[in-house]
Amino acid sequence: TRRVRVHHLREMKERGEAWPMLTAYDMYTAKIFDEAGIPVLLVGDSAANNVYGYESSLPVSVDELLPLVRAVTRSANRALVVADLPFGSYQASPEQALATSVRMMKEGRAHAVKLEGGRRFAPQVEALTSAGIPVMGHIGFTPQSEHGLGGYRVQGRGAGADALVADAVALEAAGAFAVVLEMVPAEAAKRVTAELSIPTVGIGAGPDCDAQVLVWQDMAGLNQGRSPRFVKRYADVAGVLSQAAREFAAEVRGGAFPAEEHSFH
Ligand code: KIV
Ligand code: NA
Repeated sequence: TRRVRVHHLREMKERGEAWPMLTAYDMYTAKIFDEAGIPVLLVGDSAANNVYGYESSLPVSVDELLPLVRAVTRSANRALVVADLPFGSYQASPEQALATSVRMMKEGRAHAVKLEGGRRFAPQVEALTSAGIPVMGHIGFTPQSEHGLGGYRVQGRGAGADALVADAVALEAAGAFAVVLEMVPAEAAKRVTAELSIPTVGIGAGPDCDAQVLVWQDMAGLNQGRSPRFVKRYADVAGVLSQAAREFAAEVRGGAFPAEEHSFH
């Protein structure tokens, strides 16, 4: 099995082949998604909400994300593994971004990193790509800026579409290999996708992006909470797990488990 590389993603864009990306934070999901043919796995800072139980992505630290990155890179043989840079770990300077990314690559064995922000973060993207670290950008609604943006809202409406294009173009010029577009009008995402030669990865950005990403707990229905409009649930993992736990509990209480075949003599 050949490792997916950033040039493969660009080639898929050139061929007009849409590709899927999922988050993963541990061994089983990394193996399952890798073997299912998902070419890119993201160890997102969404681990904050979906692994650690924080109320937003802001509190999660590099030290909390690193072991998850390491688990995923140990477990995925083919997928390209992207590590998110958490809030506060790259904004201060290109030097800070490089120091954090080096940890993600050396300790986490990540293949690439992702950071949020448009043209103002071009110096960070340039510093990383100069150091040989592939960078995925992330613009539109950027959860780390939730408070600055005034909550979860669609970005790039009206004249905002021009700013979105300018941000995307600046990230490509700085060397990014792909750009996530989160919660932007489908029309704006289509424009950005046409302007760039690197792939766009949509989440709530309509059908015309080169790729689509979802948080796996949303995609598979482990998260039973209220989910945004852009989520589609492909399974009811929460229901399956809940049912399994209830049956196990009932069998222990009723004496049906363990049976003869589960016992040693
Ligand atoms: O952290 C995350 O899961 C993300 C994706 C939703 C793009 O940044
Ligand atoms: Na993220």
